[in-house]
Amino acid sequence: MNTYSNIKIAYYSGTGGTELAAKSFQNCLETEGCVCTIEKIASGINPNQSDHDLLLLLFPVHAFNAPEPVYRWIDSLEIENHISAAVISVSGAGEVCPNTACRVSSIKRLTKKGYDVIYEKMIIMPSNFFVKTPSLLSYMLMQVLPKAVKQISSDLQAGVCITGKPLWVDRIFSLMGKLETSGGHHWGKRIKVLDHCTKCGWCAKHCPAGNITMKDEKPAFADRCHFCLKCIYGCPSKALQPGSCKFVIIQEGYSLREIAEQRPQNLLIPVKDLKVGFYWQGVKEYLFSLSGDQSSHSDSNKHD
Ligand SMILES: Cc1cc2nc3c(=O)[nH]c(=O)nc-3n(C[C@H](O)[C@H](O)[C@H](O)COP(=O)(O)O)c2cc1C
Repeated sequence: MNTYSNIKIAYYSGTGGTELAAKSFQNCLETEGCVCTIEKIASGINPNQSDHDLLLLLFPVHAFNAPEPVYRWIDSLEIENHISAAVISVSGAGEVCPNTACRVSSIKRLTKKGYDVIYEKMIIMPSNFFVKTPSLLSYMLMQVLPKAVKQISSDLQAGVCITGKPLWVDRIFSLMGKLETSGGHHWGKRIKVLDHCTKCGWCAKHCPAGNITMKDEKPAFADRCHFCLKCIYGCPSKALQPGSCKFVIIQEGYSLREIAEQRPQNLLIPVKDLKVGFYWQGVKEYLFSLSGDQSSHSDSNKHD
């Protein structure tokens, strides 16, 4: 029998990875007979106060922490009386140093709002920041997403409790990560519009921060940017460019739809045979944990 029947799924997403995970949870839990309400966290939208016996909160890891709108959303929740909650972070590198404390602050704030956070876990999606996830790993991450979601859903319905073990050094990293909020506001103001902008307004329509308006038929940027990168990667004519810190952008662009289209169906690569660099060890461990591959997985640490 299911432990939870009425589940509220709330998620923040920039470039779509967390949204894919949230929709996969909805699909999986509804198939198991649960009633799910799904809510997108975005600026200017207050939490929907629907009844639920489990809150499933998902967010992308931003600078070893949660993005600012997630905190604003939690702060505007009504006080609840011991409702269960699960916090799922979605990252590019996995449950490794310096990411292990990324859920600490959101869990503290949910607890203050009367939630009992009984479960926390990391899901990995192809990275949209700084370093491009190698193609093979990206394909494999997309392939295992439904399995990761199924495993977490089964844990929750079986009443399994999991709490993280954040490293003390990562608690410091995650506090430093809060600086990203003001850095992001500043960064967003300096986004450049290139001459070949078609004035289509896609960026203004899709910005989750409501930070972009069309002024004189050109995108104009205010100071509320969440640093989610949706506008830069999503612009249909690739006409937006960072005004500073260009190195954080993946030069080839980032599109989960393209990764999904290019992914060979049913990849059957034993995780133990993957040759990955040090940076991707967390991804390899995550894939291994979902693969059912029982052979050694620490014997191939060569660089790409
Ligand atoms: C500003 C910013 C900071 C990020 N910081 C981290 C990080 O500290 N650790 C990590 O593993 N991934 C980091 N990422 C990568 C994202 O967590 C990852 O790509 C995630 O899947 C993005 O989710 P989304 O597509 O729902 O926005 C960062 C991404 C951005 C845009």
